[in-house]
Amino acid sequence: MAWNEGYVTEIPYTPGFYHHLSPANLQLIPLLKQVNHQPITRPFNYCELACGLGITTNILAAAYPHAQFYGMDFNPTHILKARSIAEAAGLTNVNFSDKSFKEYAHEELPDFDYICLHGIYSWVSEENQQAIAQFIRKKLKIGGIVYISYNTMPGWAITAPIQRLMFAYNAKSQASAQKQLEGSLELLEKLKDSKALYLQNPGALRRLEQLRNFNRSYLIHEYFNQHWKPLYFDEVHRAMTAEKLTYLGSANLLDNMDNLNLPGEAIQELTKIDDLAYREVVRDFYLNSTFRRDVYIKGIEVMAPAKQIEILRSMKFTLAVQVENAKMEHQTSFGKLQLQENVYKPILEFLRDEGVASLDQLEQVMSSHNINLQRLIQAILVLIGMGYVYSMIDGIDPSSAQRFNSMAIQQSFEDDAINFLCSSIIGNGVNVNRLEQWFLAGEYDSSKGLDYIRQIVDRNNLKITREGKTAQTPEENWHFLKESAEAFAKNKRPILKRLGI
Ligand SMILES: C[S@@+](CC[C@H](N)C(=O)[O-])C[C@H]1O[C@@H](n2cnc3c(N)ncnc32)[C@H](O)[C@@H]1O
Repeated sequence: MAWNEGYVTEIPYTPGFYHHLSPANLQLIPLLKQVNHQPITRPFNYCELACGLGITTNILAAAYPHAQFYGMDFNPTHILKARSIAEAAGLTNVNFSDKSFKEYAHEELPDFDYICLHGIYSWVSEENQQAIAQFIRKKLKIGGIVYISYNTMPGWAITAPIQRLMFAYNAKSQASAQKQLEGSLELLEKLKDSKALYLQNPGALRRLEQLRNFNRSYLIHEYFNQHWKPLYFDEVHRAMTAEKLTYLGSANLLDNMDNLNLPGEAIQELTKIDDLAYREVVRDFYLNSTFRRDVYIKGIEVMAPAKQIEILRSMKFTLAVQVENAKMEHQTSFGKLQLQENVYKPILEFLRDEGVASLDQLEQVMSSHNINLQRLIQAILVLIGMGYVYSMIDGIDPSSAQRFNSMAIQQSFEDDAINFLCSSIIGNGVNVNRLEQWFLAGEYDSSKGLDYIRQIVDRNNLKITREGKTAQTPEENWHFLKESAEAFAKNKRPILKRLGI
């Protein structure tokens, strides 16, 4: 069999960073569920299976210089890019391999505290799913955490036939994947225009609308794979529990809070179900889930409630947005949920005024707003989940993150590959797009001011977008560039400074 085993290799995957995979995020799930887990300030070993271009693994390696990182992906083009980023950033705590899942289990590797796989499990054959499970069985330490994300049923039920048709369209020709992608999208449009009954279905039509705007590499990797198959939670749960793992919750903090996501009747129905796997499947029907980010642990040591409070009290927090940009509503699958301003606003305002605050400090001040500790904890977790607040980590050497950021900013003048910078203060990557990276370059080097950036923008024929509107003329582009620089300096720069960027 060919080395790619039915997986697309003709064009590389998109260069993404996924903050859910960060130990800073993953540690919150056992904490929320009152399960002990080792502090992330201690040395640990982290493995990302099928790491794509390695952006996530590299940024995490820079954020946690006291830990060892291992990334693997059988596509050598991906590993070449991953290694070149690591080398350019001077990272010595990361190792990349171009082995397949089956081969990697035979490499000389340490045992891991974290094994993470994002966007893989429902894209590969059952044989490879078994190889992944066996790798976890062999290489995950007791107490270790697994993050596994996958396309989920029943959310894909209506649109899975679109994948099937696009895959079949591609399989019947030797033409390039790009050409076949455009051809398959045209076919779907023709089917719609000629009133194919399947494409009268509102769900299928909505997906077709979205497809037009998606990134081409993503589409090829999502729709042209032989073994693509969305899974039910209980199928993955069966495979993971067979390897001695216990399900903890979702890596997306907000997904763990049913009161935020589901109407009362749904919660009532779900509480009647004792079997965890069955309950999650039913919950996915309520939510019509299309994607899950599951967190498992090997071995459970229950945490005393008092210890949970003690750990939370010692944690520090900082704002991830300007207070005026924090919307007091949360979009759920069932509609908009209004957050209580009298709880959330005082917390955000205190963090704005202090810069950084521990839960202990917040508790003292919030008691005067009638916000007790339980409500405060709930609110802080919601704010983290919504991306308005970061939890912080003490005592990590920032020099590795700083080196990574200098490298990324320098490379941003050549390509658009790394739209994230690294902060050891929050142990995570932060979205800083190419233009914003150029503004940062201008701060460090006065020869790279706005006039210089304007030349680069013109040379790359970049059209700047402001508030959803793309510049139509060179004058408008220059105007948008100046506006973007001002908005960046006012809104984002102060936040990045607090993150050590
Ligand atoms: C959808 S991409 C996700 C990549 C990365 N995790 C991310 O989210 O950016 C799936 C990745 O799995 C890799 N892959 C597929 N089958 C594999 C196998 N048998 N062994 C190792 N890597 C594999 C592909 O090369 C590809 O990079």
